[in-house]
Amino acid sequence: MPKQENGQKEECVTKNELSESFEEVGAFLSDEEKLHLIDDLTKVNPVTTTTVLKCLQARYRVNLFYTNAGCSLVALNPFQPVSCLYSPELMREYHLALKSQDLKPHIFAVAEETYRNIQGQIDPVNQSIIVSGESGAGKTWTSRCLMKFYASVAASAISPKGNETVERIEKRVLDSNPVMEAFGNACTLRNSNSSRFGKYIQLQLDRFHHLTSASVQTFLLEKTRVAYQAPSERNFHIFYQITKGATAEERLEWNLPEGVEYRWLPNSERNLDEDCFEVTRDAMFHLGIDRSMQNNIFKVLSGLLHLGNVQFSNPVDESQPCELEDKAKDFAKTAGDLLKIPVEELLESLRIRTITAGKQQVFKKPCSKAECETRRDCLAKVIYGKFAGCLWF
Ligand SMILES: Nc1ncnc2c1ncn2[C@@H]1O[C@H](COP(=O)(O)OP(=O)(O)OP(=O)(O)O)[C@@H](O)[C@H]1O
Ligand SMILES: [Mg+2]
Repeated sequence: MPKQENGQKEECVTKNELSESFEEVGAFLSDEEKLHLIDDLTKVNPVTTTTVLKCLQARYRVNLFYTNAGCSLVALNPFQPVSCLYSPELMREYHLALKSQDLKPHIFAVAEETYRNIQGQIDPVNQSIIVSGESGAGKTWTSRCLMKFYASVAASAISPKGNETVERIEKRVLDSNPVMEAFGNACTLRNSNSSRFGKYIQLQLDRFHHLTSASVQTFLLEKTRVAYQAPSERNFHIFYQITKGATAEERLEWNLPEGVEYRWLPNSERNLDEDCFEVTRDAMFHLGIDRSMQNNIFKVLSGLLHLGNVQFSNPVDESQPCELEDKAKDFAKTAGDLLKIPVEELLESLRIRTITAGKQQVFKKPCSKAECETRRDCLAKVIYGKFAGCLWF
């Protein structure tokens, strides 16, 4: 019973209450064989961290990764492919079920229920699904499952012309994933495919409940990662994809000879599934980004890698701009070529600060080594952010 003392509430649990609750927890857990059968956490009694976790653990052990919690769904990450868990047949089963609530907890049940909520209304009300969890929990995976579900379920248009349109939209919806992930995901300590941005995906249906359009808004891209990667982490996947997957001809054109080390490309010896360049290229192509536009994008990305290798050293005379070693000069020249900025202009903007005093007076002041580095990193972040933004919106 809460006790009021000196105007402050204090939780006071008696010995009796404590032993009662231990007994209840004990009684609940004693039937361990049946714990996995609890498919809704609202049926757990008493609700304690232990009972809820034990229940989820028991279900996980028998490959039941989804559990309802009232109107929410708790998804556990199996961390391995589970056959048939996302098959087209299962998708159909959930879609055709008379009452989706009667089916086992699953992300398809949530997807179907939401779809039915739209179908069942005369004046449809927008439906939202929030996918949340800590890094590595499976949000991106779950979002992909939802998009696959809607792309399949809402794709049965009647007329052949309509069919083409829907297929195109469906393909575009699914193809947006590899592109978003290539430019916005990176390998971190917790997840080798960690999304470094938030996204808001909208799918629009017509009055026949067929997919007619889709839009993706992204926000809070972790642009800092372009110029700084924590130890044992990596830059965005796309940089590894171009350096590993470019053809000999492209290497020449993008100035990416093999064997060159880039400071902004740590841990590139690690090969990940996410390093596959072909998937990103095909997806970009289907999204309407043709080969020549892709070429230009990859040249700019290569330019950023070269920019990262432009290192400065303090000048002997402080009134002079920071110096560059010969190697750094070469990298600056290549970066300028690829970014289409004359190298003198690039170096001036990185090494010299322009101060405007009053209306007329303009002073030029050489930057310190640290300032030059900050300016270089900022330039890379701005360029990358603009590119990713253009590709996604
Ligand atoms: N349902 C699932 N079945 C099989 N593997 C899964 C499932 N969900 C997640 N995984 C595995 O876990 C990894 C991490 O999942 P995911 O990238 O979706 O996490 P996230 O919540 O998006 O993390 P972040 O916040 O870092 O982006 C996936 O790459 C995949 O290997
Ligand atoms: Mg993610």
